[in-house]
Formats: sequence, structure tokens, C-alpha cells
Amino acid sequence: MSYPKDFLWGGATAAYQCEGAWNEDGKGLGEWDVFCHESPLNINHVTGDVSCDFYHKYKEYIDLMAAEKCNTYRFSISWARIIPNGVGEVNQKGIDFYNRVIDYCLEKGLEPNVTLFHYDLPQKIALKDGFANRENIDAFVEYAKVCFKAFGDRVKLWVTINEPKYYAYCSNVVGNYPPNHKQDFERYFNVVYNEALATARVVKAYRDMKLDGKIGVVHDNSNVDVAPYAKERELIKLRGDMFYNSLTLDTALKGMIPSSLILFLREMGVDSSFMKFEDAIDFANGKVDFLGLNVYNRFYLTDFSEGETEIYHNNLGAKSKMKEGIKLKNMFESANDPTTKRNLWGREIYPKCMYDTLKEIKENYGDIPIYITENGHGQYETPDENGYVDDQDRIDMMNGYIEYMYKAMEEGCNVKGYYAWSPMDLYSWVNGYEKRYGLIRVDFDDPNLKLIPKKSYYWFKDVIENYQNNLADK
Ligand code: NOJ
Repeated sequence: MSYPKDFLWGGATAAYQCEGAWNEDGKGLGEWDVFCHESPLNINHVTGDVSCDFYHKYKEYIDLMAAEKCNTYRFSISWARIIPNGVGEVNQKGIDFYNRVIDYCLEKGLEPNVTLFHYDLPQKIALKDGFANRENIDAFVEYAKVCFKAFGDRVKLWVTINEPKYYAYCSNVVGNYPPNHKQDFERYFNVVYNEALATARVVKAYRDMKLDGKIGVVHDNSNVDVAPYAKERELIKLRGDMFYNSLTLDTALKGMIPSSLILFLREMGVDSSFMKFEDAIDFANGKVDFLGLNVYNRFYLTDFSEGETEIYHNNLGAKSKMKEGIKLKNMFESANDPTTKRNLWGREIYPKCMYDTLKEIKENYGDIPIYITENGHGQYETPDENGYVDDQDRIDMMNGYIEYMYKAMEEGCNVKGYYAWSPMDLYSWVNGYEKRYGLIRVDFDDPNLKLIPKKSYYWFKDVIENYQNNLADK
């Protein structure tokens, strides 16, 4: 049956992006606290110190999601709020906060979908090289166990890591996320590998605790599409997938590292000694129950032309003309499709990637349950005199993705839920607060952070209600 009755509809957020309360109730320092406060690379000069103040206003946000007819809420736990030093002592006030959030979600009929790591290492772990250091995997597993023990009786959907590849890419290749390494491909693969191993070990730890929920990983899908004019089409597809997707997906879904990874790393000139033979056992024992996909764009690639490796990334929005992409020496480079729209940060808006990625996952990995853990549209916004935002662009764009999701479901893809990124405006990492994704406007200039549902909020409510009402006809 392609249209499940228990389909989950909701919104997704991440701890650092919305909680605020950065130094309250015993929370430890996180890598983003330090980056935002101290780094010259924090080009928008804003922080998540207060952000949406979800820490204090969580009930208001959850009430609005419930009134929107959502039946789930995806959020992440701040590791440093639970274990301030990354290892060792547990902060009971942190546990109490997430207990309040989880209990209130359940009271309001929202299934909590909880991510353990969403880009925000405790600073103490970051100083020990974060996920580039395999010793920190043990610390992550211990933290996960603390969360399972505290919340596992009520949380039935767990995510180990949000976007292992994109986090590793920004931190080690683009250099716009802490610790801001640029074009360090060895560290990039090392981090993605260790995150995969961390996922496998956390999955095993969860199963060993005999809890009755499901556990998965969230991948930023970015399916590889090769330009029709490329000469080495098959090879570019293979290389693109090796670079972006296969390590995360094969380990999580097949329980093994991709067979051609070592050869690919050799081609890239990357020392692969971070891979250990004995890890094969952890991977085999750590396959996930479901896959989360954050669906925004594809990677549209063609043959490498000439010159040196270059990374194109735009955190300046309309102030720059930069189109997001890459030129990876001797491998491939981004192609430009003039018929595809881009957002003001130079990223393609390509709704069909929803369909393509779902079909491709089904073909390569079978019928694993899939949640669309994020989909949304970032833009500048100007409210009217009442603070209301007519965000028809967002509606049109998200509608396109949802239609393609339905099409894939009709063709047998096992999709179990859809989360809008994001329920409300929030801190958008290096893009600050100007790039808004919310279905609810947060007035960040108002000391009380007034919340005003946008046009898309009412649209999303209709989408959910129509789904429920039309189930019989589907
Ligand atoms: C992916 C990330 O998970 C989230 O943190 C980010 O803000 C959104 N996409 C939008 O770019």
C-alpha cells in the first residue's frame, strides 16, 4: 500500500538553531557557541545565543504545530546540554528540559523524532578533533546511551546523525563550519567514515538496550544527475556517488563499506588508513531501521574541464552571484542547467530530485522505510504591516516536491513521513537569520519574539488535512 494511514506530517528543527539558552542551566559550550562568538569567519556576525528561545517558549511552538495538524515533531538534542564536557557528568537540568519537550509533544499528539547529533559538538570534543578522531566515537555512544535511557520509554523514532556528509563537507571542504578546514579531502572522508561507524555503534547500542523504537540516520540526499552532454557519464555518476553518497548509504543500509571506495580514495590521493578491517563487524551489526532524507537539491555534474579544484559556496545570498558547486580536479565538476531556477544563495531548486532520489534508493537499497526529514525553501522575507508574510514562492516550491513524493509513493516507494524545514524561522548557520525557512514568522526584533503564521502555515495545514481526508481515494 503506497499511502500509509499512519503517515507522519510535521516540522524539523535543530537544537543550536532554535533553543537559545546557550549558557543556561548547566549547558556546556558547543563548537557553534565558540565559532559564533569568536571566529572572523562568522560573516553575518550573529549567534544562536537566543535564537527562537525554544528553551523557554517550547510550548508556544508546539501548540502552533499541533494547531497546524502536525502529528510529529523532529528536533535534536544538544550533546553539550546533556553532557557539558562531552564525556562524564550528566546535566540533570538538560535531561529535564528534553523531558518537558517530549512530554508536551506527546500531550499534543506529536510523535517525537529525535536526532542525537545535528552539527553541534561539545567544544571539549571539538578540541579533541571531533569526528575526525575515532576515540570520540566512544564518547558519542556513551552520550547516546544516556539519551536512550532517559527518553527511550517515550521516544520511538531516533536519528543518530543529521547529514553526516554535509556536516563533514562544510567543516572540512568548504570551510564555512567549524573547525573551518578548506579542501581537506582526507579529513572529509575520515569524518564521514567515523560518523558512519558512530552510527553503526549507536544502532547496536540501541538494540542491545532492547528498546522498542526504530533508529535511523538522516542523509542529505543530493542524488547525482549527470549532464546529458557529459562524455564520461557512467564514470561521473560512479565518482559523484562515491564522493557524496555511497559511504553513508552503503554502511547504514547494507552494513558494509562500498566495494570500490578504497580505489576511489586512491584516485583522489586520499590516505585511507583511517579505515580499519575490524570495523566491518560494527558495520554489519549496525544497519539502520529507516532512512531519513533531507531533500533540497541534486548534484548536477559533468566532466572535469581544467584547472585546480575549486569550491563554490554562497553564504552572502543576494550580495553574491556565486552558484553553489564544485570543480574536483580530474574527477568531475558542477554543470549549470539554465532551465533550473536557483535560490538567492545559488542553490538549485529542483523538485524532481525528490522523485529521482526516492526511486534510486528503492532500486539500489530496496524497500527500507523512508522519512523525508527535511524539505523547505530559504528566502528573504518582508512582512506586511501586521507581520504577515505571503510566501507563495515557498508554497509553490514545497508543493512541487510533495507532488513528486506522492508520485514516487504511487510507484511503490516506502515513504512514511514528511517534515517541513522549518516550522518557524530560525538561525540558519553561517547564513544567519536573514535566510528564512519558517512556516511561522519569528519577529527577532521583538523582545517577546512574536510568532506570526505565514501563508505557508495555513497551506501546510490544508496539505495535512487533505491527505487525511483523501486517504480513502488514494
Ligand atoms: C539542512 C540542515 O539539517 C539544517 O540544519 C539546515 O538549516 C537546513 N538544511 C537548511 O539549509
